[in-house]
Amino acid sequence: MKFSTKSIHVGEEPDTINGVGDVVSSIHLSTTFARKEAGKPTKGYEYTRSGNPTRMALENKIASLENAKYGLVFSAGLAAETTLFLSLLKTEDHIIASDDLYGGTERLFRTVLSGLGITYELRDLTETVPLESMPNNTKMIYFETPSNPLLRIVDIEEVSRAAKKNGIIVAVDNTFATPYFQNPLQLGADVVVHSTTKYINGHSDSLGGALITNTPDIFDKLKFNQNAMGAVMSPFDSYLTMRGIKTLAVRMKVHERNATEIVSYLKDSKKVRKLYYPGLEEHENHDIARKQMSGYGGMLSFRLNADNDGVNRFVRSLKYISLAESLGGVESLIEVPSLMTHSGIPREIRERHGITDDLMRLSVGIEDSDDLIEDVSIALEKV
Ligand SMILES: Cc1ncc(COP(=O)(O)O)c(C=O)c1O
Repeated sequence: MKFSTKSIHVGEEPDTINGVGDVVSSIHLSTTFARKEAGKPTKGYEYTRSGNPTRMALENKIASLENAKYGLVFSAGLAAETTLFLSLLKTEDHIIASDDLYGGTERLFRTVLSGLGITYELRDLTETVPLESMPNNTKMIYFETPSNPLLRIVDIEEVSRAAKKNGIIVAVDNTFATPYFQNPLQLGADVVVHSTTKYINGHSDSLGGALITNTPDIFDKLKFNQNAMGAVMSPFDSYLTMRGIKTLAVRMKVHERNATEIVSYLKDSKKVRKLYYPGLEEHENHDIARKQMSGYGGMLSFRLNADNDGVNRFVRSLKYISLAESLGGVESLIEVPSLMTHSGIPREIRERHGITDDLMRLSVGIEDSDDLIEDVSIALEKV
């Protein structure tokens, strides 16, 4: 099956769920499943935390989109990350992570994992990874590509090759690209992470996360801890996410087309000092993006040629594009990372990595691009 066929059919084969021919998977709300014998579950399910038919249908669907064997879904992207780190790392292990990263992930490293004696460092992974300089206790390399919020691109194949020689696990957050534009497992990564809250669900109405792998040993540990730690996705959110995924391919095409049109418009604006979009030839990692992605997605960032007052006037003047955290929904959202999604990172670290108050991150929705460009152009006049 090709991508769109899988996104519609995997996990929703009529009759496999309850035998009456539904073409849409049912929502199994029951937290527990009756058995005929005490010793074993009758149809494979015993308690929803350890397994639920709706959640497992979604897990199969998401795994198939990454061309993978195993998928697991969680109550949030951060719950998936927490389960990943606590399953595969222990005290005195070390993580090397990219230096442009969702603020919540950096906070997880800095507070929770550090508190458990798991150390981390943030590096520019867009440069080739110098193996000799990796501490001996490095157990995982973790990065987003494209990254949040500066849309930097890491060469997945290159990093995975270097890591593999040293027995280091590579985990890639594929939230921005989605499996429609990029499949990290095929490029050598061991685990793919998603915040399904974003494009995968796509309608800003369900929080969730996913871990996907082809390695049985990694899957066994993650699956065990999904149940042991309990951060599972609810049946209703699993249903919503299944519903959202069916249109992932068509949504991603429009997100990308609209983003490209807005980038072309912003490129010529004197009010914009710098533009970050991996599809731009002048983007510093464009060649790697072209090599490993089949499209560049719907996220872009830019620096306004303005002081804080100008930034406020700009975001207040937008009519269709809401000032809000999150991304990947059908509606366009803009945010100021330094004051919103990345405000938890101490200012000096943030600014060292280029997250200053003039930086805007735009999640381009699937509205009509003429309306979006008009909205942006009117707001830029107020700067
Ligand atoms: C790239 C990326 N990864 C992970 C997360 C965390 O996901 P969640 O908010 O679903 O916990 C986010 C949230 O914005 C994100 O942008």
